[in-house]
Amino acid sequence: MSNKLLKGKKGIIFGALNPESIAWKVAERAHEEGATVILTNTPVAIRMGETNALAEKLKTTVIGADATKVEDLNNLFIKSMEVLGGKIDFVLHSIGMSPNVRKERHYSDLDYNYLDKTLDVSAISFHKVLQTARKLDAINEWGSVVALSYVAAQRTFFGYNDMADAKSLLESIARSFGYIYGRERRVRINTISQSPTITTAGSGVKGFDRLLDFAERMSPLGNATGDECADYCITLFSDLTKKVTMQNLFHDGGFSNMGMSLRALQQYEKGLHHDCDCGPKADEHKFD
Ligand SMILES: NC(=O)c1ccc[n+]([C@@H]2O[C@H](COP(=O)([O-])OP(=O)(O)OC[C@H]3O[C@@H](n4cnc5c(N)ncnc54)[C@H](O)[C@@H]3O)[C@@H](O)[C@H]2O)c1
Repeated sequence: MSNKLLKGKKGIIFGALNPESIAWKVAERAHEEGATVILTNTPVAIRMGETNALAEKLKTTVIGADATKVEDLNNLFIKSMEVLGGKIDFVLHSIGMSPNVRKERHYSDLDYNYLDKTLDVSAISFHKVLQTARKLDAINEWGSVVALSYVAAQRTFFGYNDMADAKSLLESIARSFGYIYGRERRVRINTISQSPTITTAGSGVKGFDRLLDFAERMSPLGNATGDECADYCITLFSDLTKKVTMQNLFHDGGFSNMGMSLRALQQYEKGLHHDCDCGPKADEHKFD
C-alpha cells in the first residue's frame, strides 16, 4: 500500500545485497512511496550479489562504494547528486560485517586486526558517510539518516561477539553527529534497533535460529520482520517524523523491555523436563 509519503524525495541506500537484505526491502518500499533511490554496495558485493537486478526493477542506478573509504563516499555523493539532479533527502546505512564472527574467534580471543575491520565497516563507516555528506553539503534541510542496530549494543547476547561493540559505537555516532548536523542543517540522525531477521549478515551469528525463536517467544508482538523494518524506515524518512533525532528506536515487537514471557518460560520448562542431571559440567561452556 502506497501513501506517497516520500513523493519527490531522493535517497541513497547502502547494503541491498539480495532480496533478504533489509536494505533491499527498504529500497522497494521507498520506491513505492514515490522516492528515487540510488543503490550502493561494495564493488565485490555488486559483482557477487543481486544489487543490479534490484536497480533494474526500480529503474535506477547503482554506484559502487566501499563505505570504509572516504574517496569512494565522496564519489558516491557527488555522482548521486548529479544523477538525481539535486541534494539527498534520506540515507539508509544498512552495513554490518565482523571477520571475528565469520572466523569464529571467541570474544575473549579476538584478532585485533579483525576487530579494527569490524568497527570500521560496521560503525565508523557511519561517521564517514555523515562527515562526507556534511562536507559536501549533500543533504537537504530536514533530511533523515538512519542506520540499523541491534539490542546487543545495550545488553549482552551470546554469540554476537565484537558486533555488540560496533553497534554501541554506531548508536553513539548517531547521537554525537545528530547534535552537530541537527543544529547546523536540521538533518536528523537515528538508529533503528531491529529484531533478529533472517539475512546473509544475520545468519552469520552463532546460534541464530535459536536466537530468532527466543526473541519471537519473548516479544509480545513477535519479531519484527524485514518488511516491517522497511515500513518503519519509511516513516523516519518522511516528513511525519521531523523532530525525531539522536534516538535509538527499538523495532522489536517489545523484546527490549521484556524480562521473561510465558511463551519463553513454557519452552524453557520443556527443556528442564528433558535434561535431568543437567547443568554444564565445569568447563563445558568455557568458550561460550
Ligand atoms: N539480520 C539481523 O538479524 C539484523 C538485526 C538487527 C540489525 N541488523 C543490521 O542490519 C544491517 C543490514 O544487514 P542485513 O541483516 O540486511 O544483512 P545483509 O548481509 O543483507 O546486509 C549487509 C550489507 O553490508 C554490506 N557491506 C559489507 N561491508 C561493506 C562495506 N565495506 N561497504 C559497504 N557495504 C558493505 C554487504 O555487502 C551487505 O549488502 C546491518 O547493519 C545489520 O547489523 C541486522
